[in-house]
Amino acid sequence: MDRIKIMGGKSLRGSIQASGSKNAALPILVASLLTEEKCFFDRVPNLQDIRTIIKLLSHLGVKVTSNLQENWAELCAKDVQNFEAPYDLVRTMRASVWVLGPLVARFGQAKVSLPGGCAIGARPINFHLMGLEKLGAQIQLENGYVIASAKKLRGNRIAFEFPSVGATENIMMAAVLAEGESILENCAKEPEVIDLAQALRAMGAHIEGEGTEVIRIQGRPQLKGCRYSIMGDRIEASTFLAAAFATGGCVRVEGLPSFAVESVLAKFEEAGAAVVRGARFVELEAKARPKSTDVTTLPFPGFPTDMQAQFMAVMAVAEGTSLITETIFENRFMHVPELDRLGADITVKGNTAVVRGKESLKGAPLMATDLRASASLILGGLCAQGETIVNRIYHLDRGYEKMEEKLRLLGADIVRLRQEEV
Ligand code: UD1
Repeated sequence: MDRIKIMGGKSLRGSIQASGSKNAALPILVASLLTEEKCFFDRVPNLQDIRTIIKLLSHLGVKVTSNLQENWAELCAKDVQNFEAPYDLVRTMRASVWVLGPLVARFGQAKVSLPGGCAIGARPINFHLMGLEKLGAQIQLENGYVIASAKKLRGNRIAFEFPSVGATENIMMAAVLAEGESILENCAKEPEVIDLAQALRAMGAHIEGEGTEVIRIQGRPQLKGCRYSIMGDRIEASTFLAAAFATGGCVRVEGLPSFAVESVLAKFEEAGAAVVRGARFVELEAKARPKSTDVTTLPFPGFPTDMQAQFMAVMAVAEGTSLITETIFENRFMHVPELDRLGADITVKGNTAVVRGKESLKGAPLMATDLRASASLILGGLCAQGETIVNRIYHLDRGYEKMEEKLRLLGADIVRLRQEEV
């Protein structure tokens, strides 16, 4: 297994390009199942999760031509004959359940393994199933699989109990091919939901209201092919700004609108950073050591759970005590004992972490436990004095494109130790 070695203590300075968003690309690639025509996507990030979804789509019979080094993929779902997403693929990536909606909508059948628990919590899919049932699908659970079928989905009014990103996306993809109108209420407003709606519109779907609580969809008998460019990754961008802040530097990230990261920018400002919001870039300069700042994770436009671990790494070196409360996932503090190994002073009480800021951290060997936790440990290592080794770095490769390369561009002393070198 690869590891990352960091010699910490350098301020990060400079400018980088945001990669395409992983969480926008996943459902958008899946949306290609909705048409028999070719869909061409660019700005597709070269990541493990993207390779997994391509593997799943190929398994279903989608013809995929791609060059992820060049960040593009062309998909054609003309000859889909297999409607089953097997356990082995769904287990490695929960987003595989996104194929449920499009498969039932276009082919009237789908068999998808239940994702089961994951490191950060139980993450059930009851909202996805409720939405599909409302659209007229028959759902059965058998031997760990969801089996869904329908002659023809019919539009309906669907009110989500919670604004789930995945359920909103899955049901949007089903409703665009349903007969008649669907009104989705209490929808997730995340920018990735907006990006999916825009991609679906490029395929001929009739959708209004994405980015608000209510999404209205007029079902179409069929959709067409498209060319679409994936949005920039707001979590990646925010992670680099956090790295600039924690190390006392100044970093600009190009290639995404600032509204997508507004809640994070507002917290960085509250903690004393100077922030510039451009039409297509964001920039952060650390004017001084960060000041303690409380954060509670919430659905968009609130502070994203996917930035909680990285923000905690910044607060670990802030002046004063911060309270960080996680309300989206129940088990998302696995980075805490690892940050404490660097000399941070963090204790967890229920769903709140109490972070007593330290003037400096000291390098140590660490173990990554999930995607965003790995990013948080890298940030910890960047501001710690001396050497930090982060093990199990495959978690990072699921969601950050060329992270070490980008950090080196900004002046970090960071290298990947390939398995054969360790
Ligand atoms: C997506 C993102 C993930 C992010 C999360 C919240 C992708 C690929 N992943 O995950 O990075 O952290 O949004 O912003 O886009 N829930 C249920 N039943 C359901 C669905 C969800 O109880 O049917 C619960 C979950 O357990 C969780 C909460 O709702 O507590 C939010 O989950 P959701 O918004 O669905 O997250 P994901 O779509 O899985």
